Amino acid sequence: MTLFRVDASIFPDQSVSRELADIVEAEWTAAHPGESVIRRHIGTNPLPATAWADAVVGQQLPEDARTPAQQAAVELATTLADELIAADAFLFAVPLYNYGVSQHIKTWFDILYTEPRINKGGPELRDRPALLVTVTGGNYAPGTPKEGWDHSSSWLQRVLVDVLGLDLAPSTAGSLWSG
Ligand SMILES: Cc1cc2nc3c(=O)[nH]c(=O)nc-3n(C[C@H](O)[C@H](O)[C@H](O)COP(=O)(O)O)c2cc1C
Repeated sequence: MTLFRVDASIFPDQSVSRELADIVEAEWTAAHPGESVIRRHIGTNPLPATAWADAVVGQQLPEDARTPAQQAAVELATTLADELIAADAFLFAVPLYNYGVSQHIKTWFDILYTEPRINKGGPELRDRPALLVTVTGGNYAPGTPKEGWDHSSSWLQRVLVDVLGLDLAPSTAGSLWSG
């Protein structure tokens, strides 16, 4: 059993989402001692923002017609897809930044989604268990002045469940207010 974990906090030391995900990971490790964890620290070690366009265009070209940057981007997409497909369970720790999807998780998904095994809707990931930890500084609960301003959580749920096919734990569907 392999756990794939993504952290999108931009802070290397203090991070609420990372602390919460650490609790989840500790539980998973206790239940699966000795098993491996694949990690992506996309907030503190970001993927290149230019790689998405290079991967999209590069995928449409024969390998010998690609620029070095396009070839590197296609290979990066393959690596991201390999990491996902190799995992049996998934943990995403993604804060809300600037009312929208963190640019780092968007870049991760955009590059990943250029990969044919992912965007052709292959059965590999179908129904594998996933947990989303998302934290916010503000309160977006029904009836609050900023209800509807969290444009991250619903997008994350849409792509994790409906695009990637993961079985997202229902208890993580809401966001945790860290403020
Ligand atoms: C640059 C920046 C932008 C933020 N934007 C928002 C926001 O739009 N809405 C919100 O509710 N919280 C926002 N926050 C608060 C974070 O969601 C909160 O601090 C959270 O704990 C960050 O996750 P982390 O502790 O794992 O790093 C922002 C924080 C930072 C640093």
